Amino acid sequence: MRVTVVTLFPELVAAVGDSGIPRVAMESGALQVDTISPRDFAVNRHRTVDDRPFGGGPGMLMIPETLAAAISAAKKRTIGARVLLMSPQGRRLDRAAVHALADEAALILVCGRYEGIDHRVIDTLVDEQVSIGDYVLSGGELGAMVVIDAIARRLPGVLGDAESVVQDSFEAQLLDHPHYTRPDVWQGMAVPDVLRSGDHRAIEAWRELQRLCVTATARPDLFYQRGLDERARALLTAEWLHSAATNV
Ligand SMILES: C[S@@+](CC[C@H](N)C(=O)[O-])C[C@H]1O[C@@H](n2cnc3c(N)ncnc32)[C@H](O)[C@@H]1O
Repeated sequence: MRVTVVTLFPELVAAVGDSGIPRVAMESGALQVDTISPRDFAVNRHRTVDDRPFGGGPGMLMIPETLAAAISAAKKRTIGARVLLMSPQGRRLDRAAVHALADEAALILVCGRYEGIDHRVIDTLVDEQVSIGDYVLSGGELGAMVVIDAIARRLPGVLGDAESVVQDSFEAQLLDHPHYTRPDVWQGMAVPDVLRSGDHRAIEAWRELQRLCVTATARPDLFYQRGLDERARALLTAEWLHSAATNV
């Protein structure tokens, strides 16, 4: 997967490849990230990339000439890539959107700055707008880095254990179960017995039950949307019967 980021702050975006899973993805060749700056297409000696908005109002806007030139250069570099503008007005990034983006061969992520970009660039060069949440950042770079990190985890061969993706929060519309490591007892709190039992079926059943309970508590909306399949019903009934019996 090739990702070209159009940004006035290439050094900020480059940091995404310095550590963690994106770095692994880039070192393995599964992910290539490069940047293009609109400033490189500025024609005047001040290398201007912004101007005041028509109609007045606070702040500046990215001017269309330099931004469009940078996007066009990115399109030449990554033929056929979808052009996504990072924007609080875009479709909110979620698991389904990340999966769809990870299936693309190439993407161009455009980072706005100031009060945003000239709308004519959106009308002519942008395929889709993507938001990382209902709040306003000062630039699209952190959003682009979020997209790159989330995609990197999904690329084949990048995560050592592909199972861990399957158990991630939001897979199967459930949040992840609690995790424990050594020591067995820490500050008087013991790891649940079942996790040290060596009984893999019991461990899997405990984890499934925990995923259901964590989701019902932390994200009732997700739990309600998912509904209860036969397996979930059986696990919750068994747990309820167990608690009822131990509470008499
Ligand atoms: C200060 S913001 C502009 C906000 C714009 N005036 C508005 O209220 O919709 C500058 C840039 O940051 C990026 N940005 C801000 N919030 C974002 C979000 N929630 N998701 C993705 N990108 C965002 C966009 O690229 C945007 O053009």
